[in-house]
Amino acid sequence: MLKRSGTGIAITGSGSAAPAGILTNDDLAKIVDTSDEWIKSRTGIKNRHLATASESVCQISTVAAQKAISMAQIDAADIDLIILATSTPDDLFGSASKIQNMLGASKAVAFDLTAACSGFVFALVTAAQFIRTGAYQNILVIGGDILSRWVDWSDRSSNILFGDGAGAIVCQATDSGDRLLGFEIYSDGTKNDCLTLAYQGGDRELIDGISIAKGAYQPIWMNGREIYRFAIAKVPEVIEKALFRAGLTADAIDWLILHQANQRIMDAVAERLNIESEKVISNIAEYGNTSAASIPIALDEAVRAGKIRSGDLIAISGFGAGLTWGAAIFQWGDR
Ligand code: COA
Repeated sequence: MLKRSGTGIAITGSGSAAPAGILTNDDLAKIVDTSDEWIKSRTGIKNRHLATASESVCQISTVAAQKAISMAQIDAADIDLIILATSTPDDLFGSASKIQNMLGASKAVAFDLTAACSGFVFALVTAAQFIRTGAYQNILVIGGDILSRWVDWSDRSSNILFGDGAGAIVCQATDSGDRLLGFEIYSDGTKNDCLTLAYQGGDRELIDGISIAKGAYQPIWMNGREIYRFAIAKVPEVIEKALFRAGLTADAIDWLILHQANQRIMDAVAERLNIESEKVISNIAEYGNTSAASIPIALDEAVRAGKIRSGDLIAISGFGAGLTWGAAIFQWGDR
């Protein structure tokens, strides 16, 4: 077990969870005018896991977190901070505190962080700051989303993409070297309207001269082509910048884990960076785009499959609504 002190970061545990219910491409073809062939060839997606009303972001995130805590060989009571990256909390006031209670992480301060599909990268970078300043030693970073609640199921240009899930990692302070070697994160609000899950309200007069906006969040709206172009342009660039910060080049990378948005985007980014396809971790066929959960689920599955080993060098990159994008380069494990 890692000595819990110092201001270096080690990522020592991972876990993931997804709802049991699976919607196949053929199932989708019963809802909208599409086909398994079209979806597979344009996106690489075959299945997506969908949460029922009895499942929640808190519940799947807690399962993922428990697995990560167990792999890191710590107790929930040792956790100082929980960051839940999500755009789909069970409660708009935040879901992280409820997860804290479900885990029994009584000492931990907990908050939600919203950066859409970049959320996991942004949350990891945020966690790193608390470790580097010496404020905290054990931090749980969770990416959890139930996008199916917000998908417009009549819109075939977006409903094919999204699924539900949660992934988590444990970051620990160490005095034997900082394994987060480099990162870069960005936002561009000028393109905010390319991908939205926005509140829309109409004026409702409370009393003479005082109105409030009464309404509801609208389903996901996406300009798919614009997002595609944005991803192809910005993701290789931000990974190169994070690599530069780490003093490395792309050939040093053992594994590339991109936000699982589209297999074609992953292939194009890897090609641009000259990274062999064998090094690209993809599980998009099984889960679709699970937003903040996609990177930690892919990471956890690769760790548990014995692909990723302690000391391996990993590049991750998230991108999506905001628009936001970012990359981090780290070494897995405590060796
Ligand atoms: N099934 C069958 N046909 C479909 C379809 C579907 N599910 N969705 C769209 N089409 C049709 C369109 O109507 C269009 O028909 P037309 O040529 O007769 O007008 C044609 O297929 C091509 O549509 P287009 O939107 O150009 O497809 P595309 O190749 O760009 O693929 C996406 C669409 C959504 C798969 C792709 O743009 C994409 O993945 N973008 C990125 C989205 C993303 O990653 N979002 C999340 C970021 S976090």
